[in-house]
Amino acid sequence: MVNIGVLISGGGTNLQALIDGVNSGTIKGKIRVVISNRKDAYGLERARKANIESIFIDPKGYSHEKYCNVLLEELKKRDVELVVLAGFLKILSREFVNEYKNRIINIHPSLIPSFSGQGYYGEKVHQAVLDYGVKYTGATVHFVDEGADTGPIILQEVVKVDNEDTVESLREKVLKVEHKILVEAVRLYCEGRLGLKGRKVIIDRE
Ligand code: GAR
Repeated sequence: MVNIGVLISGGGTNLQALIDGVNSGTIKGKIRVVISNRKDAYGLERARKANIESIFIDPKGYSHEKYCNVLLEELKKRDVELVVLAGFLKILSREFVNEYKNRIINIHPSLIPSFSGQGYYGEKVHQAVLDYGVKYTGATVHFVDEGADTGPIILQEVVKVDNEDTVESLREKVLKVEHKILVEAVRLYCEGRLGLKGRKVIIDRE
């Protein structure tokens, strides 16, 4: 069983998918703690309902580095082995990333490297997709490195953009795919099936 820590900032539908994945036995892991940088994040409530420890850590009063150190301490205290960023809208410090090297997984609502990096998060991504007029978008799960959305890609899935799509409809379509590939990536990680060759993720599907 892999000890998982989940960081969130919002509604937590991806967190819910992970909770369901653990409860159904798909993911051979245990969510030890859910941490939010926002007090009103509904994901905290989802964790509570699932009897998972959930904590809000206010970034106010901390430098960015210090805040990341506080997160690190809380995760280590609970023996967290894998950190999942499930809609966590903050960039992690170099120190944090080094401590959990190749053990941090992020979900992003586009086909990286399109519509990713600094400033591309949440609905801004879907707005940019619509403004650009691409015909396909999607979702990406990747390991986190020191950059913004630049780490090795684990899984991606395509979503078609229709003429009638709005930010809201696109968000819904992409979220469905996010939930699926995030659970799959965490499942593979917990089963030890993800290897790295340079920046390429090799999946052992035997
Ligand atoms: C998701 O779409 C996730 O991909 C995105 O925030 C949303 C959180 O939704 N993350 C990013 O944009 C990170 N750059 P949720 O709280 O319902 O899981």
